[in-house]
Amino acid sequence: MLHLLQPTDPRWLDAAAADLDGLLADHAHCELKAAQSALALVGRFGADAPEIVEPLSALAREETQHFRQVHTRLEGRAAPLGKPEKDLYVKALTKAARRDHRETPVLLDKLLVSALIEARSCERFKLLAEGLPDEDLAGFYRGLMAAEARHFTLFSGLAEARFGAVARDRLATLAEREAAVAHALPLGPTVHG
Ligand SMILES: [Fe+2]
Ligand SMILES: [Fe+2]
Repeated sequence: MLHLLQPTDPRWLDAAAADLDGLLADHAHCELKAAQSALALVGRFGADAPEIVEPLSALAREETQHFRQVHTRLEGRAAPLGKPEKDLYVKALTKAARRDHRETPVLLDKLLVSALIEARSCERFKLLAEGLPDEDLAGFYRGLMAAEARHFTLFSGLAEARFGAVARDRLATLAEREAAVAHALPLGPTVHG
């Protein structure tokens, strides 16, 4: 789905369901990082690519709202937010994209890496929506799954509008690397783990 070449190992759902407090804490930090990263793109590239300013500022606002929703759920469970952990998936994916970054515009890779992160989150949220026994939490993830699909389209659309066919080819290349990265990760109660 959404350009992902490798489905998540179904055992990930068991690991996530076994530690919902841990999953929600990690998820809350993912939403915060998504907001921060969208604003960082606006700050770094907005002058040269003014078309990203409005949609990515709006995205940062939406991701902040998601953070607040997840945080409210943490509070409801009396579960701690905790400190942000290093996201091994995002780190490995960013590193994999940098392998030949000299040949590719920085903004293009940033947009496409973000698109793939949204796609993987969407796939994981779908597993949670379909597999969690807690109906309320499953419904929450159903809504977020739809948002992530929209965000994938936003990032890949911005990349294509600016870089054309180069963006399509590069997305295919990075999707292959993303599949390898996702496959190599240990299974844990984290959104991308
Ligand atoms: Fe989000
Ligand atoms: Fe998102």
